[in-house]
Amino acid sequence: MEMKDVIEKRASVRHFVDEPVPEEHLREMIRLAGLAPSVNNSQPWKFIAITNRALLGNMAGAVRTAVDSCLPTCGDENEKHAKSQVEWFSTFFEKAPAVIAIVQCPYEAIVDKALKHSGMSHNDINNLRGHPDIESLGAAIEHILLTAVDLGYGGCWLSGPLIARPALEEHLSINAPWRLAAMVAIGKPSQSVEQKEKKPLEEILEIRA
Ligand SMILES: Cc1cc2nc3c(=O)[nH]c(=O)nc-3n(C[C@H](O)[C@H](O)[C@H](O)COP(=O)(O)O)c2cc1C
Repeated sequence: MEMKDVIEKRASVRHFVDEPVPEEHLREMIRLAGLAPSVNNSQPWKFIAITNRALLGNMAGAVRTAVDSCLPTCGDENEKHAKSQVEWFSTFFEKAPAVIAIVQCPYEAIVDKALKHSGMSHNDINNLRGHPDIESLGAAIEHILLTAVDLGYGGCWLSGPLIARPALEEHLSINAPWRLAAMVAIGKPSQSVEQKEKKPLEEILEIRA
């Protein structure tokens, strides 16, 4: 598919056909994710491809428990509705044929080597630079989503489940200083999805010639 077509076709998919994603396709998604730009080419990432139903069920269970304890409700219907939406949008991955966990690794940039006399730490400079490590992960995640579309799948970027980050990290054996940063659910869409309405070009572009 033409790159432009892939980009225009991509839309978040949350309902999937019950059909496995072959390992070779998962490998291709991760191979292309690994080609994404990253701060100082640090490639501060690892990817865990999960197709094990029991593991996905346990992860979704951990998210439900965390949603329940983090968002207590007092019976108000709007509040209860919002909570059930948060829960659904954070747990639907349980039924996805495959889920890719994106794991953030520590990185060192060139500037870190010049901080000795600056009074600034790695975290200070990382904040100043707008968290380039996390931006790098975003680039890799978009490569996964676009490759998924090109291979005939759909996917959805997930940060909601991170409400249960410690439990999920335990399920996935992710140990500090590595961190679970996001997840992507992948599979063949069970219903057609359309690109959501996006802001017009005139609203988001400013040319200063
Ligand atoms: C950083 C990030 C986190 C997201 N987290 C979730 C999530 O937890 N659950 C979910 O259902 N969708 C999640 N999404 C998908 C967005 O809701 C979706 O991209 C947005 O509504 C625009 O729709 P589109 O992807 O179809 O263009 C996330 C997207 C991004 C970029």
